[in-house]
Amino acid sequence: MSDLVKRGKKVLTPALAFDTQVVAVKAEGCWVEGDDGRKYLDFSCGTAVTNIGHRPPRVVKAAQAQLERFIHSGCIFYYDSLVKLAEELTSITPGDIDMFFVANAGSEAVEGALKLARWVTQRGGVICFRGAFHGRTMGALSVTSSRVHYRKRYEPLMSSVYRTPYPYCYRCPMGQEEGRCSLDCFQYLERLLEQDIPSSDIGAVIMEPVLGEGGYVVPPKSYMERLRELCDRYEFLLIFDEVQSGMGRTGRWFASEHFGVVPDIICIAKGIASGFPLSSFGASRKLMGEWPPGAHGTTFGGNPISCAAAVATIATIREDKLLEKCQELSPWVIEKFKKLQEKYPVIGDIRGLGYMIGLELVHEDKKPAPEITSRLLKLCLEEGLILINCGTWSNVVRFIPPLVVTREELEKSLTILDKAFQRLS
Ligand SMILES: Cc1ncc(COP(=O)(O)O)c(C=O)c1O
Repeated sequence: MSDLVKRGKKVLTPALAFDTQVVAVKAEGCWVEGDDGRKYLDFSCGTAVTNIGHRPPRVVKAAQAQLERFIHSGCIFYYDSLVKLAEELTSITPGDIDMFFVANAGSEAVEGALKLARWVTQRGGVICFRGAFHGRTMGALSVTSSRVHYRKRYEPLMSSVYRTPYPYCYRCPMGQEEGRCSLDCFQYLERLLEQDIPSSDIGAVIMEPVLGEGGYVVPPKSYMERLRELCDRYEFLLIFDEVQSGMGRTGRWFASEHFGVVPDIICIAKGIASGFPLSSFGASRKLMGEWPPGAHGTTFGGNPISCAAAVATIATIREDKLLEKCQELSPWVIEKFKKLQEKYPVIGDIRGLGYMIGLELVHEDKKPAPEITSRLLKLCLEEGLILINCGTWSNVVRFIPPLVVTREELEKSLTILDKAFQRLS
C-alpha cells in the first residue's frame, strides 16, 4: 500500500470507499498514470463520468478561459456559460424539454426533480423501481433500492414511496421466461394502483431508462411505451433519471431515445461536464413555468467553470461525431463478448446499449457470482485495465469505456479480459 493511501486512510472517513488503491498522478484520454509509473486503461470513467475521456482538450481550454474571468456566481448575476449550456441542453434533450435547473451532483438533480413534480401535481406519492439507484441524499435514497446496504440504518426515509419491479428479464421478478411473457411486471404496477395507493395520490414515476448501479439492465421497449401511456392516463409526471445513461453513454444523447419514449422531467449529471461537478434537470416550459422564483434554489449549482466545461463537452461529442463512433463500434464489442461467453459460461448475460454494457457473471445454476467478479476485476487491474462492478449482488462487470476509445484500445481491453477469464477457470 502506498504511503499516500496509508495517510488517506488515517484522515478520510472509511465510509468513502475506493475501488482501487491506484494513486493517480496524471490522466489523459482513456489512460490514467499511477504514482508507480504504471499506465492503466481506465474503463471505469470515474464511475461513468469521463465519457469523452480524461482532460479532453476543448474542455480544458474552456475551463481555463472561464477560470481567468470569474469562478462563482451563486445566482447573484447571470453569466454566458450558464445560459449557453441551457440552450445546448434544449437542443439535445428529448421532446419539448426546454427549461433547466442546475445543481452539482446527480442526487441533487433527483431531489429537485421530485420537488418539482410534487409542486406541480400537488400529489405526494411517488412510484419507483426495485433495484434502482438515484443517489444517497434522503429523497433520492428513498427511491433507491439497488442494495439494502445503501439504506441500512437510515430509516425512516421519505414516505409515500411505492416500489414496482424493474423489468429485469434475465432474472424476471415475476418468474417468467424472457421474451415469452405478457409483461406481468407491468400488471404488478397496475395492481399497485388498485390495492396500494389511488392514482389520484401519485404525482410522479421515477425510472432509470437503463438500470445503472442495479446491474445495467435494459427494459423492453414495450414496457417503456406502456409506462408512458399509463403516466398519460393518470397524469403522473414521468421522471427519467439519465444521470448514468445520459450524455452519450449509450450512443445516443439520452438512453430514452432508444425506446422512443419522452419523459416529462429528465435528470442529467455525471458525463455532462467531463468531471467538473455539475448536474441538471429539465422539463418543458409549460411545467417549469409553474415553479415560481425561490421555490427551489442553489448556491453552488451551475458553477461557471463547470458550465463552460459542459458546453465544450457537448461541442466535442457533436463535432467529433462521438455518438456515431460509439454506434459503429459497440455492436462489434458485443459480438466479441458473445465469443467470450462461448468460451466462459460464467458470463451468464451480456446486455447494454452503446458503451453501457454489463456482463452478468453467474454460477452454473445462474446464482450470482460476486466472488468470481471481484477476482476478475483484480486480475484485470493487475494487467492494467480498470473496470468496476455493479448489480445488487456485485456480480455485473460494467464495461463503460469513454466514447473516444479507439478500436485498438478496445482490442487491448478485450485481450486482458480474455486472459483474466482464462486465469479464473
Ligand atoms: C442513475 C443515477 N442517479 C443518481 C446518481 C447519484 O449521483 P451522485 O453520486 O452524483 O449524487 C447516480 C450515481 O451513480 C446514478 O447512477
